[in-house]
Amino acid sequence: MSWGLLLWLLALCALLALAVQLLRFVRADADLTLLWAEWQGRRPEWELTDMVVWVTGASSGIGEELAYQLSKLRVSLVLSARRVHELERVKRKCLENGNLKEKDILILPLDLTNRSSHEMATKAVLQEFGRIDILVNNGGVSQRALCVDTSLDVFKELIELNYLGTVSLTKCVLPHMIERKQGKIVTVNSIVGIIAAPLSTGYCASKHALRGFFNTLRTELATYPGITISNICPGPVQSNIVKNALTEEVTKTTGSTADESYKMATSRCVRLMLVTMANDLKEVWIADHPFLLMFYLWQYMPTLAWWLTNKAAKRRIENFKSGVLDTTE
Ligand SMILES: *[C@@H]1O[C@H](CO)[C@@H](O)[C@H](O)[C@H]1NC(C)=O
Repeated sequence: MSWGLLLWLLALCALLALAVQLLRFVRADADLTLLWAEWQGRRPEWELTDMVVWVTGASSGIGEELAYQLSKLRVSLVLSARRVHELERVKRKCLENGNLKEKDILILPLDLTNRSSHEMATKAVLQEFGRIDILVNNGGVSQRALCVDTSLDVFKELIELNYLGTVSLTKCVLPHMIERKQGKIVTVNSIVGIIAAPLSTGYCASKHALRGFFNTLRTELATYPGITISNICPGPVQSNIVKNALTEEVTKTTGSTADESYKMATSRCVRLMLVTMANDLKEVWIADHPFLLMFYLWQYMPTLAWWLTNKAAKRRIENFKSGVLDTTE
């Protein structure tokens, strides 16, 4: 065989490999590392069995769906949020459709902004189940308003709840995980923890802060390979996040009832979260296109990403000003 032919064959192989990657990317609804883990990695059904999982924000949206999917595995569940009766509803549904018994689910009312209560809540979980294997920091609130019109109280609330509330709870659970030299801290971040989007300066900032906090905490835990930290960054997912988003005032939410059917199904997002937990992935991007493409552009082609972001921003702000609520999140 001549060298020329060999080169042609090599080039053909390279082209084929590129085409396969391109096809994977076009069909992807999450970053390719996560999708690989879903295909070839550890299965949540094996990996998460017998674990004690504490979920905040478990009364609706992603947290609620997470409770349902976890209840189909053999785990012990702690469900936290502010609204007890909603947690009771979620628990009932977990017991009806899952594989858990009454004693496997603890309802633990929790206000993320009431930081003085976090130590006691942590103690309550340890008392009930003896350990915490996974903390899922899911609780949080979003925002829909222009910075210039927004009261500072809104910024304060978003930092208190999304950022400091999460940091506080994590700090309560961390000594326990360090003592056992194992544990998973999983945080539901957002696409805007990485990229920028108009109408959510305060929300965006709180999520950027969380990403910086957990990335840095991971470096401090380098001597504890058994403790892992996962940042989950979903794009638009069906949930109540836009309905409950803060507006210009801290006392007012959007109350949106807009159609969300174009967004990723909550069940799909949560399934990928379980894969993330089972495989201890550091950061995952969960979104359909064009949002997934935006993640990649922000990472690898920032100049192009900024051009597209500003183009889209103009349209979103015009819509917002004319009263069309943008439900993208
Ligand atoms: C905060 O939590 C503590 C301890 O659980 C409780 O006594 C207090 O009433 C809570 N504060 C608020 C404002 O809810």
